[in-house]
Amino acid sequence: MTDLFDKVRLGGLTLQNRLVMAPLTRNRADREGVPGSLAATYYAQRASVGLIVSEGIQPSAIAQGLPATPGLHTDEQVVAWRPVTSAVHAADGHIFAQLMHTGRIGHPALQRHSSLPPGLLPLAPSAIRPLGMAKTYDGPREYVTPQAMTGAEIDATIRDFAAGARMAIEAGFDGVELHAGSGVLLHQFLADGCNQRADRYGGSMTNRIRFVAEVTEAVAAAIGPQRVGLRVSPGTTFTGVSESDASQLYPLLSRVIGQTGIAYLHVHEVGDRPLTMRIREGWPATYIVNPHSDRSRAPATLAEALAVLADGTADLVAFGRLLISNPDLPYRFREGAPLTEPDPATFYFGDHRGYTDYPAYASEHPVTTTMRDQRT
Ligand SMILES: Cc1cc2nc3c(=O)[nH]c(=O)nc-3n(C[C@H](O)[C@H](O)[C@H](O)COP(=O)(O)O)c2cc1C
Repeated sequence: MTDLFDKVRLGGLTLQNRLVMAPLTRNRADREGVPGSLAATYYAQRASVGLIVSEGIQPSAIAQGLPATPGLHTDEQVVAWRPVTSAVHAADGHIFAQLMHTGRIGHPALQRHSSLPPGLLPLAPSAIRPLGMAKTYDGPREYVTPQAMTGAEIDATIRDFAAGARMAIEAGFDGVELHAGSGVLLHQFLADGCNQRADRYGGSMTNRIRFVAEVTEAVAAAIGPQRVGLRVSPGTTFTGVSESDASQLYPLLSRVIGQTGIAYLHVHEVGDRPLTMRIREGWPATYIVNPHSDRSRAPATLAEALAVLADGTADLVAFGRLLISNPDLPYRFREGAPLTEPDPATFYFGDHRGYTDYPAYASEHPVTTTMRDQRT
């Protein structure tokens, strides 16, 4: 049986175990997109997972659609990420940067980066306003209708992703994960509910996959395919995304993107396990699953993680919220130690509270015998 705690190869890396920290936006960067001074401590505390996927990071200023998210498009940001990646490596961990272009999930009021002229509309495949409210520095605001991207803007965005990936490597990341889930720009191109383009990027499934494929190819060419992963969340309705054909689209996407030779596909499951398994059938490389076999929002359990490895659904298993509140999650799973509940009030924004102050279990409960010894 595949063990959660076995070492495993991913691209060119050997990971300590099959646990992945899912990407988690924490909104603690400054207004120039420079990661906060506590980021190194936060990620190093969690470095005992096989792979950390960072919070979503914008590869360009216009790609930012949430307040206080960090970037990878200026030298200052690259310099600020280096202590973060070094701290993770010093703790024997590995970290990929998640490149996130939020597309229509933005707002002109968020354009505080000094390189941007004020008043630009967020970019999107089509001029269709998302559902819900934008988070801005001044509180929630109605989303605006985004600007449908021109061909030149599509080309420029592909170049921005490739440049962001190069900067990630310069900053010491082991690779990048391209965010194509949760209703962000790459997902907006995939989803027919928000992509109504009449050009080669809209219409058929092949056309809607094209932008994701071109970004993936450009990033793979920039830093090497073995340092690239892709994340999707098939069937999510987050921010009003709708997909009439997810059950055909994603299996096709896995075959198309599989040809790029990238290291992994990461599926954030939204309650459709049979689809997760069908996507896997066409996927030639490592398959990471953030398991949610039903539509409940409850985090998966250790038993579920072991089950998706044992039945071959996944090669690696990702957890999000449990890694906010249990920085030593691999230890706790291995030893059967109790888990700490995360506090959603401190997920986004704020200081060290709910960020770097969740203790490792062993630091608070020094024992001479492990819990596993006590059980046997
Ligand atoms: C606070 C928070 C921030 C998140 N930020 C991101 C993000 O930046 N990128 C992303 O792909 N998913 C993001 N997600 C989704 C998580 O990666 C994960 O898929 C989700 O929490 C479900 O997994 P879990 O039950 O293990 O937490 C976020 C979720 C939460 C709760």
